[in-house]
Amino acid sequence: GAPVEVDIGGLQPGEKMTVEWRGKPVWILKRTPAQIAQLPKLDGQLADPQSKRNPDEFTPEYARNENRSIKPEVLVVVGICTHLGCSPTDKFQAGPQPSLPDDWEGGFLCPCHGSTFDLAGRVFKNKPAPDNLPVPPHMYLSDTRLLIG
Ligand code: FES
Repeated sequence: GAPVEVDIGGLQPGEKMTVEWRGKPVWILKRTPAQIAQLPKLDGQLADPQSKRNPDEFTPEYARNENRSIKPEVLVVVGICTHLGCSPTDKFQAGPQPSLPDDWEGGFLCPCHGSTFDLAGRVFKNKPAPDNLPVPPHMYLSDTRLLIG
């Protein structure tokens, strides 16, 4: 598949956009400073906080950090659950949802079997999904232009 060029100049903090790449949904999320600050605090609850499992498949070298991204504020991940391939839904708001941890500050929830992911696409422990959401190969062409693929 051809690489996809995306203009993220209009993306506001807290907003997510979806583009298609190789027939898959790729999410681009602009995280707020509070959302970024929360990521290291979650490490103990995650299955693979440093993205060390199958890094060649799931996390390019430039995203092998807590943010799983090149720029701390911009997350780029394939929105397909690593369990059986459903597409997780946004759960940016905390609330009375039994499938989410009490201190939930936002992330993604897979509707099929309840895997949960943080705002870096990192999977929580003891969930059916074995791996973090894949980070696709990508690079910045300029401050606001992203090339995926
Ligand atoms: Fe996502 Fe099973 S497909 S938890």
